[in-house]
Amino acid sequence: MIETMRSEQDGTLFFLHTKSATLSLLVSAEGFLLLPYWGARIKTSDISYIVKELPFVSYMASTEGRKNFQLGNLPQPYPSFGNSDLRSPAFLFTYEDGSRTTDLSYRGYTIHKGKTKLDGLPFIRPDSSAQTLELQLFDRLKEISVVISMTVYEDYDAITQSVRAENQGKTQTLQIEKLCSASIDLLDSDFEFLHLAGAWGREFQIKRQKLEQGILSIGSAGGASGHEHNPFAALASPGTDETHGQVYAMNLVYSGNFLASAEVGMHRNTRFQIGLQPFDFSWRLEPGECFQSPEAVLVYSGKGLEGMSNSFHRLYQDCLIPLRFAQKERPILLNSWEAHYYKFCGEDLIRLARQATQVGAELFVLDDGWFGKRMDESSSVGDWIANEEKLGGSLSSLIEKINREGISFGLWAEPEMVSPDSDLYRAHPEWAIQVQGRRMETSREEYVLDLSNPDVCKYIIDSISAILSENPVTYVKWDMNRNFTNLGSTYLPSCRQKEQAHRYMLGLYHVLDVLTNRFPHVLFEGCAGGGGRFDPGMLYYTPQMWVSDDTDAVERLTIQYGASLVYPSIAVECHISETPNHQVGRRESMAARAATAMWGNLGLELNFDRMAGEEINCLMDEIAFYKKVRPVIQVGRL
Ligand code: DGJ
Repeated sequence: MIETMRSEQDGTLFFLHTKSATLSLLVSAEGFLLLPYWGARIKTSDISYIVKELPFVSYMASTEGRKNFQLGNLPQPYPSFGNSDLRSPAFLFTYEDGSRTTDLSYRGYTIHKGKTKLDGLPFIRPDSSAQTLELQLFDRLKEISVVISMTVYEDYDAITQSVRAENQGKTQTLQIEKLCSASIDLLDSDFEFLHLAGAWGREFQIKRQKLEQGILSIGSAGGASGHEHNPFAALASPGTDETHGQVYAMNLVYSGNFLASAEVGMHRNTRFQIGLQPFDFSWRLEPGECFQSPEAVLVYSGKGLEGMSNSFHRLYQDCLIPLRFAQKERPILLNSWEAHYYKFCGEDLIRLARQATQVGAELFVLDDGWFGKRMDESSSVGDWIANEEKLGGSLSSLIEKINREGISFGLWAEPEMVSPDSDLYRAHPEWAIQVQGRRMETSREEYVLDLSNPDVCKYIIDSISAILSENPVTYVKWDMNRNFTNLGSTYLPSCRQKEQAHRYMLGLYHVLDVLTNRFPHVLFEGCAGGGGRFDPGMLYYTPQMWVSDDTDAVERLTIQYGASLVYPSIAVECHISETPNHQVGRRESMAARAATAMWGNLGLELNFDRMAGEEINCLMDEIAFYKKVRPVIQVGRL
């Protein structure tokens, strides 16, 4: 619920109430937007005293005409650069005359039911009670409008926020150097910074660090949200545990480069920000053009981490994951990767599918190695045409045989990459991300395709559409296996090169939007070498994700627990794999492996020919048990 009231001394107060939290904003008499409160739910009342009573600070500039009005000490929801506030601004624009100061003053607001779709970007769909507050800010000198949109999800105890900048001038271009999705000032600094850090094969490790004066930040610059840091951060009061403590959390609905930071200022307040990574980013905004930031999800919990997780889980299951899959039980799949890697023939696959059906699996997934002339990682990515010689016939005849075993069929692809040794690269070397004249680096013997180029997006849409329209494929594992290096585009003009990483993401979202709408029955699973792009942006298109390439049952406990802080169980794909484990060599009983893999969508990564009969019997019991508890695990409350 959104309420407004007039403050006795100041302008309007806004109250964004969720079931158990309130975020309040105030328009000061000077026309600045302030943020007096975010925390446990309070009544709508004149709380402007909170910002009035802040002490005057010597050595800090005051706003012209108001001796005691010191922005540098005031809590704000979207601070500018160029005034007395020397903390990190929420945004930064460079103008044609070289100046970087923007002076936003409040112009008005609207409150409306529901929410406007974010153009070209994933977003949290409005529920029936959603209400949106739009705050309009304006810089008169440069004629720039900044609109902050905040949607209240009352039942979920969550607020979403995004920002739109518009160049309303007639002649001048500006460069957006930074545009946070959310920036929150808290009048306290006694917090731990909690985040999810890791690496390939070791994603989602929970880290907690006490904040001290200075800036603590996490982020990514390799093109995806990344293995290293999930686009999630929280400020937790000391001693916060599962059920106690105050938590202020932010999660970015975005899959590319991001930055989240907490800055403790000299007066022991904290500025908490999340948004696009400003490093190596710049966006040229011509007269009349708009730029839309990704959306951030803001959750306050007064009941520790559990309260926070429950908000994210319920919100994502109901309002983020595609509706047609949100409550739909996910099939128990068998993935061929750890069973055969690249070395298989059609007969091996049919046999594996038959065995998978016998133990109770419902979907057979053919992973890497089925296309072009691919026998190892050295070639063919980009040539999305079945290797009929290897499969022993066409893809459709293989699928028919596998379906006859009583199991549906899914396929792996890595559409954003290209092998140097591929027909695609030979035909279009200019489509790879590159800086002309510089040496190119391969990773996993691949280059990254430049999805800022619409022709590249069209190629991906057409080639994947051809497979999906010609074959009864019910599932696609959408993989992505390397970081961006040598960032440069042969398509973008020189003045727009720093837009490439974000334009790539807009291109990818467009591709996923077209494909998931064109093939609504296909269940897409996101993957980036495991959990390298496991974020709400991808979850908007791919209802489930491969959380890690590490399938060891013990290692998976911390990985899956970390993921569960933010993401619902139905989003997390967990497989029972072989013992000894292929990544770490640990031996585990079937019972232990199954118990871990049951905390999400159960799947298998097994070669039955290497298993004893007793182990297979035990597996069958575990699968039968999972089928009974599956509705609770996948759509229940964790
Ligand atoms: C990386 C994925 O995370 C694995 O599960 C597997 O699909 C390989 N790619 C295939 O190349």
